This record gives sequence, structure tokens and C-alpha cells, in this order.
Amino acid sequence: MADQSNTATTGVRGRLPAWPRQALNASVIAAEQAYRKRSGLPLLTDEDIANLKAGEPLAWERGDGVPAASPASAVPPAATLAAPPLDSAPVPPATAVSTAGLSLEVAKQVAAGKKWSKSSIAAEQARRKRNNLPPLTDVEITALLGETSAAAPAAPVVATAASQAASAAAPAVRAAAPATPAGPPPVARSGESTRYVGTPAVGTSKAAAAGGVASVGPEDGPVNQQRRRFVWSAVAAFLVAWFLAFFRFFLPRTLFEPATSFKIGYASDFGLGVDTKFQQKFRIWVDRTPDRIFVIYARCTHLGCTPDWKPSENKFKCPCHGSGYDSEGVNFEGPAPRPMDRAHVELAPDGQILVDVARLYQWPKGQPTQFNDPGAFLST
Ligand code: FES
Repeated sequence: MADQSNTATTGVRGRLPAWPRQALNASVIAAEQAYRKRSGLPLLTDEDIANLKAGEPLAWERGDGVPAASPASAVPPAATLAAPPLDSAPVPPATAVSTAGLSLEVAKQVAAGKKWSKSSIAAEQARRKRNNLPPLTDVEITALLGETSAAAPAAPVVATAASQAASAAAPAVRAAAPATPAGPPPVARSGESTRYVGTPAVGTSKAAAAGGVASVGPEDGPVNQQRRRFVWSAVAAFLVAWFLAFFRFFLPRTLFEPATSFKIGYASDFGLGVDTKFQQKFRIWVDRTPDRIFVIYARCTHLGCTPDWKPSENKFKCPCHGSGYDSEGVNFEGPAPRPMDRAHVELAPDGQILVDVARLYQWPKGQPTQFNDPGAFLST
């Protein structure tokens, strides 16, 4: 749709910024031409284009039609076509807005009733910084966020866009703000209205930092410090435990078994019969008969259980499958295939009995016995 409100008797402004304006580049002029072509408006002449590029008024803007600096059409120099978010929004005529400390374009946005997000403001700040434009003030940011600031109640309320435009006739609208009699001083940039609570949204941090917004995180109070210390301690403890487990992997897993050769005392320490005092420690019984002393290895020859000595029955009884052995360890009942083995015994230089359970003497079924071999017993 053509911008009929901009139509003058001697010219059509279309979407061109009203005079005074900055010099326009070729792409902006080309966009204007395309718009005019689409809308059926008269195209810009070569003279118009030359004037626009030179920053000169169009022929009909020199006084033939619309006044060159019409209060209703003037915009501050800072407002250019390169800032579409601010320039393209229409201003509802009947909307009352507070313009104290606001530039015209911000006043338009506020009057349009559109609330900006913090990331949008940060992006706008970055854009202004790139284009060497003055940044948004805290008052403007507060107004764009739609927040109620301390400045709002005391600021005078301007009724329509027409009156805003009238105030825009000055080269810089913002310069009119100090003239507001009851206007409070601007809020400091580090105030609450510009402070992010938490992490800035993804993708906005650079723009926010460029705009001076969103660079402040939550306060580093003692509780947060304590929490952070706790988290780091937990992480450190986990890493230490993990590294210890990792290095333990390289250490050999050695089983420390009891010695197989040991002394059990003197022969005179043992009376006739079975002595079980070394059963728990060395898994042996010391057996003494009238003419010899020998050591029975306490392991059932069926499947390896440790039999129990039954003194009342004068026999060994295996608890696993019921094999029975007499007092000398010779099997006589149950599934045991042969007598229990006997350990090697000899006298140590000090006269004690030295037992070696690594050397066993057996009596296999149907074969000669080893129980009478030297070392299988000691004569008494
Ligand atoms: S293990 Fe002793 S009887 Fe089976």
C-alpha cells in the first residue's frame, strides 16, 4: 500500500525518510524504487536519486509542496533506514506515551505498545554500537522493557504522535529531556533495570556485552561461595578416588598364603591319640600311637571337605557326604576313596617337630601305602 499520508501535491515520499535526512545509499534507494513499482507510485527520477545520494532535499521538498522541515515529518538524523525495527513501526495516533528522556524512535516503539525482550535490547545496543549511534539510555531500556520505572510517574505525558513529531523538529530529541522540569536524573547503567539475573540467553552474550547489558551475574554471596566450594570438593574427591582405582589396577594382586612348613613343638608335647589344636591354624591333626607320631592333613579324600574329629566315637566324620575315617585317618565308610594324606615330618635342629604340608604321603586305593616311608612319621 502506498503511504498516502506522505503524498504531497508535488511529490510522493513513499517510504523515504522525511527531510531532514542523511544521504541514502544505493541499496536503500533501490528498495524504495522497488516499493514504488510494486505500489504503482511514480518512480524516482535521476535527479531525485542524485539528491538522495547527496543528502539533498528532493525538488518538491524545497518549498514547492511539503515544507523542507515539516514538524510532522521530521525525524532526527540518527534515525535511518538502516534501523528497520525502530523506523518501521507505526505510531497509533491516540496512544499516550511518556517521552521524557526517550528518543523519537523509542517513543514510537513504546507508543506502539510493543514490549522488547532483554535480548532484543542487547541486539539493538550492539547495532547502535556498530553504526556509531548513541546507545539506548536506561530510561529508554526501561520503557522498551515495559517496566515501571521511577521516572514514569513524574514524567509528563504527551498525547499524540503529532506532538512527538513536533518535539522531533529539534536536531536531537533527546536533548529536550533535560528541559523536563520534574524529570528525575537518569538511572545509572549498572542499575537493576539493566541487570541480568542468571546466564544470558544463548546467542545474545556477545551482543549483550557489546551493549553493556547482561554482563552482571548473580551476587557472589557467602552461600554461593559455600556451595561452589562443596561442588568443587565433591569433584576433587571423585577424581582422587578414580585415580586411586586406576593406579591400583597396575599393582599385582598377590594372595598371601600361610607358610607350608612350620614347627609344632616337641614330641613330648603330644599324648597318645589325636590332637586337634592345629586344625584351625594349619589344617592338620597330630596323631600319636605307641610307636610313632605322624601328622594327618585334614582334607577329606572324597571332595576336599574338612572332617570333624569325634572323640566319643574315636573317628573322623566328614560333614559333607558322611565319609568316616578311623583315628589314624583310614577310611572305612562313605564315598571317600582312600585314607587321608599325611604330611612330611622331621625333627628340626632344636628338637621340635617340623611339618611340611607341601609334601604329602598317600595311600591310593589298591596301591602300596606311603605311610611307612621315611618322613611320613617319627618314631617314638
Ligand atoms: S567330601 Fe568328605 S565325604 Fe564327600
